[in-house]
Amino acid sequence: MIIYHLSTECYPVAKVGGLADVVGALPKYQNKIKDIDAKVVMPWYNKSFVYDHEFDIVFDGYIHQGGNMLQVQVLKEKSDVLGFELYMVKIPGLLDRDNPYGYQDENFQFIGFQHGVLHWLSAMNIRPDVLHCHDYHTGLVPFMIEYCPEFSPLKGVKTIATIHNGEYQGMMSWEMARYLPSFDQYKWGLMDWNGLINPLASMIKCANAFTTVSQGYLEELYISFRGLESLIRDEFGKAYGIINGIDTEVWNPETDPMLDFNFNIKNAVEQKKKGKEKLCREYGLKPELPLFAFIGRFATEKGADLIPDIVWKSIKQSYGALNIMVLGSGNSYIENKLKEYDYTYTNFALDLGYKEHLSHKIYASADFLLMPSRVEPCGLNQMYSMRYGTVPIVRYTGGLRDTVTDISTGGAGINFTYPGVDDVIHAMNRALMLYNQKDVMENLIDANMNFDFSWEKSAEKYIALYKN
Ligand code: ADP
Ligand code: GLC
Repeated sequence: MIIYHLSTECYPVAKVGGLADVVGALPKYQNKIKDIDAKVVMPWYNKSFVYDHEFDIVFDGYIHQGGNMLQVQVLKEKSDVLGFELYMVKIPGLLDRDNPYGYQDENFQFIGFQHGVLHWLSAMNIRPDVLHCHDYHTGLVPFMIEYCPEFSPLKGVKTIATIHNGEYQGMMSWEMARYLPSFDQYKWGLMDWNGLINPLASMIKCANAFTTVSQGYLEELYISFRGLESLIRDEFGKAYGIINGIDTEVWNPETDPMLDFNFNIKNAVEQKKKGKEKLCREYGLKPELPLFAFIGRFATEKGADLIPDIVWKSIKQSYGALNIMVLGSGNSYIENKLKEYDYTYTNFALDLGYKEHLSHKIYASADFLLMPSRVEPCGLNQMYSMRYGTVPIVRYTGGLRDTVTDISTGGAGINFTYPGVDDVIHAMNRALMLYNQKDVMENLIDANMNFDFSWEKSAEKYIALYKN
């Protein structure tokens, strides 16, 4: 069975968040299953870790976007180090950007990527068994292969759509329709939602099946989904919640080259302590105090807007008996507030930006990881932290409630229900009590590190779904 994963991110090539981790791991684990050949297709950006690798140009052609003629090249990475074949679509002037997101003309960018991929596959007569589309950036693919005459060689190819984050739907005005490859005008309704082209809605309508990255998130979308809940209810017969795994080869505290002090279950407590001491020294924190961390995008869906108040309030209320460290970037109000607190409080440290190495060190060194997410379709941070012996404190939502049950019921971490500062601080107070019960804490670290989050089970579930 041949599967093409279509995505704007893939670790280690280009990563903004969890989408990259999933697309960099799922195909690798699928390829361990007999008779499966899973590949990844993504845009070629200006910056990538793999450009020192060698590539073959496997396709060279042109597409039309509105009145513009654009060159499309497809490059195939030559090595087999990634665990899957990687294809990168190069469209000079459109896809060769520094970052995957954040541009005014994103709609052109993602339409161009989808058009380029399907043009290449059609022109080369490549008919995969499954096209697996990730998030709205590839959401028009299921429609396009059925209703754009240019892609008729792909008609009937099965499509699976995965919603990693339903907060982003890629809506655009119908004026953009002239930049799409020409399509059967009678079918326009399959791209429409409330008078706009909505790629996420279109992929739910047109894909053979769609998945969310946890069962909990799917249940939430059924109730409320930024205006798409009635669509989800109508299409529920082809909806599946499949929880993400983590790449336990990359995220292995025993071999992780990004850590200063590697560890396993047997020596976790001593080695983590050394890592914490070094990290705290580097950031002017106090190694003898418990360390709470937050890693992530400064977005309201992550509850990052609560972090500044959590910082000052928890430090004040505990009379400075804890450390907090934050790694991330995003909303400038949150960034500025946190910068101010970084100057004010010696118990608080901030590192702004995207830093893969530092994130690994924090997962390994912190005592607790804070995730006050308002929305969390799956969440990977809580699983990384558990694997690295750090106890997650999570809001009870989406994938967080599927992966972290509360210690009061024998679970892996601390839950709270309401995404508000006082509720987070209450959860942090519970964490402090736990921290002071050394035996209980050590048993919990042990149990969490042993937890099986590997991709094997979920990779099998996707294959079973493709076969269906
Ligand atoms: P999302 O994709 O919604 O941001 P996930 O929990 O699925 O959330 O995945 C986030 C991924 O991005 C994790 O691998 C996390 O370690 C990483 N990450 C987030 N922010 C940063 C950062 N500032 N520096 C390094 N890694 C980060
Ligand atoms: C999205 C979600 C996150 C999920 C990730 C990978 O970015 O916000 O919860 O873990 O996709 O599926």
